Amino acid sequence: MSKMEVKTSLLDNMIGVGDMVLLEPLSEDSFIGNLKNRFDHNEIYTYIGSVVISMNPYKPLPIYTAEKVEEYRNRNFYELSPHIYALADEAYRSLRDQDKDQCILITGESGSGKTEASKFVMSYVAAVCGKGQEVNKVKEQLLQSNPVLEAFGNAKTVRNDNSSRFGKYMDIEFDFKGDPLGGVISNYLLEKSRVVKQPRGERNFHIFYQLLSGASEDTLKNLKLDRDFSKYNYLSLDSATVNGLDDAASFRTVRNAMQIVGFMEDEVQSVLELVAAVLKLGNIEFKPESRVNGFDESRVKDKNDLKEMCELLGLEQSVLERAFSFRTVEAKMEKVSTTLNVAQAYYARDALAKNLYSRLFSWLVNRINESIKAQTKVRKKVMGVLDIYGFEIFEDNSFEQFIINYCNEKLQQIFIELTLREEQEEYVREGIEWTNIEYFNNAIICDLIENNQNGILAMLDEECLRPGTVTDETFLDKLNTVCAEHQHFESRQSKNSKFLTDHSLPHNCFRIQHYAGKVLYRVEGFVDKNNDLLYRDLSQAMYKANHSLIKLLFPEGNPSKVNLKRPPTAGFQFKASVGTLMKNLLTKNPNYIRCIKPNDKKAAHIFTDSLVCHQVRYLGLMENVRVRRAGYAFRQAYEPCLERYKMLCKQTWPHWRGPVRDGVEVLLTDLQVPVEEFAYGRSKIFIRNPRTLFFLEEKRRQCLEDLATLIQKIFRGWKSRRQFLLLKKSQVVVAAWYRRYAQQKKYQKIRCSALVVQSFIRGWKARKILRELKYKKRCEEAVTTIAAYWHGTQARRELKRLKEEARRKHAIAVIWAYWLGLKVRREYRKFFRANAGKKIYDFTIQRIMQKYFLGLKTTTLSMSPIDKSWPAKPYGFLEGTHQELRRIFHLWRCKKYRSKFTKEMKATYEEKLAASELFKDKKALYPSSVGQPFKGDYVELSKNPKYQKLNSLVEDKVLLADVVSKINRANGKGAPRMFLLTKNNFVLADQKTGQVKTSVPLPDLSSVSVSTQNDGFFALRVKEGATSAAKGDFLLSSDRLIEIITKLHRIGSASADRNQIKIDISDEFLVQFKQDKVCVKFIQGAPKNGNGVICKRKNNRLLEVSVPSP
Ligand SMILES: Nc1ncnc2c1ncn2[C@@H]1O[C@H](COP(=O)(O)OP(=O)(O)OP(=O)(O)O)[C@@H](O)[C@H]1O
Ligand SMILES: [Mg+2]
Repeated sequence: MSKMEVKTSLLDNMIGVGDMVLLEPLSEDSFIGNLKNRFDHNEIYTYIGSVVISMNPYKPLPIYTAEKVEEYRNRNFYELSPHIYALADEAYRSLRDQDKDQCILITGESGSGKTEASKFVMSYVAAVCGKGQEVNKVKEQLLQSNPVLEAFGNAKTVRNDNSSRFGKYMDIEFDFKGDPLGGVISNYLLEKSRVVKQPRGERNFHIFYQLLSGASEDTLKNLKLDRDFSKYNYLSLDSATVNGLDDAASFRTVRNAMQIVGFMEDEVQSVLELVAAVLKLGNIEFKPESRVNGFDESRVKDKNDLKEMCELLGLEQSVLERAFSFRTVEAKMEKVSTTLNVAQAYYARDALAKNLYSRLFSWLVNRINESIKAQTKVRKKVMGVLDIYGFEIFEDNSFEQFIINYCNEKLQQIFIELTLREEQEEYVREGIEWTNIEYFNNAIICDLIENNQNGILAMLDEECLRPGTVTDETFLDKLNTVCAEHQHFESRQSKNSKFLTDHSLPHNCFRIQHYAGKVLYRVEGFVDKNNDLLYRDLSQAMYKANHSLIKLLFPEGNPSKVNLKRPPTAGFQFKASVGTLMKNLLTKNPNYIRCIKPNDKKAAHIFTDSLVCHQVRYLGLMENVRVRRAGYAFRQAYEPCLERYKMLCKQTWPHWRGPVRDGVEVLLTDLQVPVEEFAYGRSKIFIRNPRTLFFLEEKRRQCLEDLATLIQKIFRGWKSRRQFLLLKKSQVVVAAWYRRYAQQKKYQKIRCSALVVQSFIRGWKARKILRELKYKKRCEEAVTTIAAYWHGTQARRELKRLKEEARRKHAIAVIWAYWLGLKVRREYRKFFRANAGKKIYDFTIQRIMQKYFLGLKTTTLSMSPIDKSWPAKPYGFLEGTHQELRRIFHLWRCKKYRSKFTKEMKATYEEKLAASELFKDKKALYPSSVGQPFKGDYVELSKNPKYQKLNSLVEDKVLLADVVSKINRANGKGAPRMFLLTKNNFVLADQKTGQVKTSVPLPDLSSVSVSTQNDGFFALRVKEGATSAAKGDFLLSSDRLIEIITKLHRIGSASADRNQIKIDISDEFLVQFKQDKVCVKFIQGAPKNGNGVICKRKNNRLLEVSVPSP
């Protein structure tokens, strides 16, 4: 148990006292009062030390649940309130852990709950021991043996609806781990007389009723039975059905249990056949038939039942019939056969029925043993559970009651012996001084019954074996003589004169003072029952049966094994088996359950004081308590004791560090408990008086209250402090967060203000700078303006001055010319006539013109039409003539040039002309083409062997053959292609192989798009709907673009039936590629640096061609 677990004790929440040893004052009244008090509170279990007293509650109590099992599992005996589970647990654990074989002795009157108690013990052990497939099977078989044995061995009696009519001792065997291995059941003397006769208000064994109520119609038919109880003589009718007992359901339970235990289907069938045979047997009746010799001989009255029974058992009817009419006595070599009268026949019938049933029962027990026996030979630990019929006092007590009570006597003895011995041993073990205690020892009664010389059983056997007439009366006579002096034997006829007038003692009875009270036994039937004779004819008849089970049950009927020796008597057998049982029990550690029935009415809630008192007396419970208390009333191991009371002393509370024994000593000294009140054992403290214990308990209770207050106080303090600390911590956290938040807010506000101020200042500064800059600019403008004005004024002044000067110079020159003319004229007038001036002037002009033309004649002029050179004009007035001459000369030399043209040259120049018309000033590429001759075939198609095939493919004359680039729309890169142009179509072919890729008839072309730039890109557009439009337009590039397009254009204009191809010149045009239209856009890039034209794909719909700017 862990230290933290709460330790409980039997002393907690006790109703009355849980252990009778603690009863104070101890008297019979207080004892019974305590039992009643507890019984009224459904506390049916009470201890006397380690003995458990169990009161029969006669109602189901919720104290046998799985939870209860767990509660009691592995707990110390006194730790919890008294329970049969505590005893079972203690026994099981000392068996498992200390290797001590155990026996659990359950005693008490009939109906006091022994059988139930034994089942609780077994089920508890089954629940707490090991688990596993094999183990579970064993457990199940052990548990299921109970319903089978109860069906065959229990019956309703006036005392108990489920009274065990046999004694049962079951050894459960365990392996070293405490797992069950199997078991052995011993049965003791089944009350077989019940088979043929039941006292009033009682029933036969359960199985008869169960079979008739629960078996199916088919089964009953097979067994030749009828459901009606009243049809069977052996079944008593007045209590055939019992309240709260469902025979039909029980039958199913029993069959199921038999199956689990391991009965074969045919075995079950045989068993049922035997049960049916017993019922049939009861119905056989006899009638007298007079014989010649005057004696009556019995005859079977109605042979039907006999016949059916014989059929059931496979018997020959006549054999059985004869066995009911004759009896053969064999002595030595003689065989004498006598007839049976009707009474003898009935006796024989009943004897057969009883024997059949009791042997069947023994066979069942053996069969169960066979199933449940341990399979291994390893050493086993054993727990024996004894559930034997309780002490019985009926109105009419016979041999059976005598035997049963004898058995109980023996058990009482063993109880006395073992409890006392155990107690004494404990004192010795613990080293405590011990003085013997007087108690009533029933050994004397046992002796009266079992003494080999003059015991009652010995007398009976003697009487049975004695030759001559033996009757029950002779037996009683014998007792009267032999036992008369015995103080526990009472008889009217005995020599002991004090009973002569005792009318409560009939003449045919004797009385024994048992430990449990006086019992009057009627001697009738004692001899017979002890003899337990079955006529040999019957056993032999049975052996002849064609039924395996019957044959097995009557081995003595085997004619080859005739045994003339008398079988041992019932009394002898029983004594022997009880002797063995006692020996067996003495080797084991005993655990006692003393069962008490609270009332005779089988009713819950009724507590009949007198009845309980009687049981308490004969069970010797008071003595038990006294013995227990004579020494020390209470004992407890040091550790739990210290644990329980340590709070009563400062030194031991809360912890005692030294040895526990010293701790207890310190504790008791501190509490000033008188020294004689306790003794220190080796491992336990012994407390003499319950008062001392209660004193300790009371102190503890008070202390616990104080402690509870203290604990409460400390706990509250601790809780509040914790709460406070938590609050404080939380407050710090909250404050921190709030401060952070507040600071954040404040900072943001300051930041905003700073920003506003800053922006104002910056604005103000900026405006100031702006103002300054504006002022500066204005100043500069003003300076410039002023300077401009000033320079203007200066310039105009200078211009005016220059003009003035020029005018003056001109005036001077004019004046000078006029003056010179005047001077010349004055000088030369005298030499010329008055009109000679005009003639001279005309002459001069003519002379000049002559000189000019003659000069022209000698000048060699270039005949090249492109030569722009022309002599400079000689005189201003010849300007018009000079230009006219130049024009005429140019026209003439062009005519001269043209007249030298061949036809090819003409065509070439026409082409060039057309090109110029098309592209001049429209496309920047044009000027570079002017100087190039339009060769047409640049690849020398006809000469190149690579292209021969291609050449042959093209039908028309090839007008142009060149390698061009075909632009890939996906990346704008060009791929070289052979481009062929004929009169009717153009062809694109692989440059390397000459394989034709595309051939498009020219009429399918609608237009050509080119840019204005200095690039070779051109798009050939195919008419929509044309067959070759599937591939879309062609975007090509060639340096010889001008030539290609011109040729293309010219083919169009040459043929009358075709439209001229349109030429679009634009820096942005659309090209249809299969499905998509892509825009080709030309831009001016960086000045030419060697890279040339770059075409790039910008997106799905745009190809950008960057052309270096010129
Ligand atoms: N612990 C219990 N709880 C509820 N009912 C009980 C308990 N013990 C006994 N009984 C009831 O008392 C009846 C008789 O008990 P049980 O058969 O154990 O008596 P017994 O001592 O074995 O008698 P006998 O000596 O005749 O066999 C049971 O059938 C059951 O109804
Ligand atoms: Mg019983």
